[in-house]
Amino acid sequence: MKANSSKETCRICGGIVRQWFDFGPQPISNAFLRHTEVADEIRYDLVVGICGDCTMVQQQNECPRDRMFRPDYPYRASGSVMMRKHFEQVAETFLMTELAGPDPFIVEIGSNDGVMLRTIRTAGVRHLGVDPSVDAVEVAAAEGVRVRVDFFEESSATSIRAAEGPADVIYSANTISHIAYIDSILRGVATLLAPSGVFVFEDRYLGDIVEHSCFDQLYDEHFYLFAVRSVQAMVARFGLELVDVEHLAVHGGSIRYTVTLAGARTPSTAVRDMLEQERKQGLAEMETYERFAERITAIRHDLRTLLERLRSEGRRVVGYGATSKSATVTSYCGIGPNLVPFVCDSTPEKQGRLSPGSRIPVRPQEAFSDPYPDYALLFAWNHAEEIMAKEREFSEQGGRWILYVPTVHVV
Ligand code: SAM
Ligand code: TMP
Ligand code: ZN
Repeated sequence: MKANSSKETCRICGGIVRQWFDFGPQPISNAFLRHTEVADEIRYDLVVGICGDCTMVQQQNECPRDRMFRPDYPYRASGSVMMRKHFEQVAETFLMTELAGPDPFIVEIGSNDGVMLRTIRTAGVRHLGVDPSVDAVEVAAAEGVRVRVDFFEESSATSIRAAEGPADVIYSANTISHIAYIDSILRGVATLLAPSGVFVFEDRYLGDIVEHSCFDQLYDEHFYLFAVRSVQAMVARFGLELVDVEHLAVHGGSIRYTVTLAGARTPSTAVRDMLEQERKQGLAEMETYERFAERITAIRHDLRTLLERLRSEGRRVVGYGATSKSATVTSYCGIGPNLVPFVCDSTPEKQGRLSPGSRIPVRPQEAFSDPYPDYALLFAWNHAEEIMAKEREFSEQGGRWILYVPTVHVV
């Protein structure tokens, strides 16, 4: 598939979207390939822009959702100890607050392997996960989590409301920003939410991405890069209101947005404070993205130069973490098995396959120490603390980690 010419109209408000970066042809970031599938791999042009009216940063080409979120979608939310703890805390907080009333009901959009709803199920609270990725859903169902294999959108929200009644909480992590047809999602949320209910979602934060030059947060699934200002304007178009924001450290910096039906709660001062911070950071200004684009180009140059030098010196470099983010890094920087012969990853569903785009083979985590390479290119930099602690012996034996954000450096 080759995309049509890039869209210049905002998916949310119809304003003009100004392009600020073209990453060129990119694969579907979670489509890890069997050897027999290589010839059928599709690509699309990853082009990013900002809307001059509502300020939403968005992609200008759209991947078909059925190609991204296939039944065998391999990402597993439980893949990191840190994220397991994070979602346990999310569930426990809901149980003590929004779900403390009589017969509460929570719906999760993009519940994946049930990492959050597991705790809700254990507490005996009425819940429903909605996720189209059958294999991941089966993991959740095996643990007794109730899940509907479906895309959440206006029609599924209407049918859930009819069958189960209104939701006190609609929660979603790392999913809402993935959905180009967000108008349908927000109409669905407005339909399903109880009058005093909350819609809470967390996604990568544009402010952190720009500040730390994390260009690899741009890939097919991250269709929108949310900021407080753009989210506030977006939800208001659907009779909803942003009433709270919380800056989180996860995934290199995220924001948890709390949204209600308009007028249901008084917005917190955190919303105002973050809006002011974004104004100071210039998050709505095109110049901010022009400077970001220059930094992205420099990272590509520096990373390629380093990997080519290491190869010419006969050093072994292995990738660590077959992340979705790595698809953008490898395809945009032109890194293939010639520079990084394999990447190790703890996810069984990815092992034995080839990385999308780059065709770098994915091997189990145990391959990392068999024997240790000289350098490890850390694609899963958002889990650096957990991974470096696990692989302490690698560093102790003289191994070095290569990181590429905010700049290319070796530790
Ligand atoms: N919530 C988990 C987390 O934070 O780790 C999983 C995030 S994963 C990146 C995105 C998930 O959203 C996938 O499991 C995918 O199948 C699901 N998804 C994509 N579009 C969806 C939609 N319209 N409704 C419900 N789930 C969706
Ligand atoms: P994420 O950045 O989207 O969370 O993906 C992280 C990837 O890194 C995922 O495929 C699992 C993998 N991983 C490991 O291989 N070892 C680890 O110790 C951790 C935390 C993640
Ligand atoms: Zn717009």
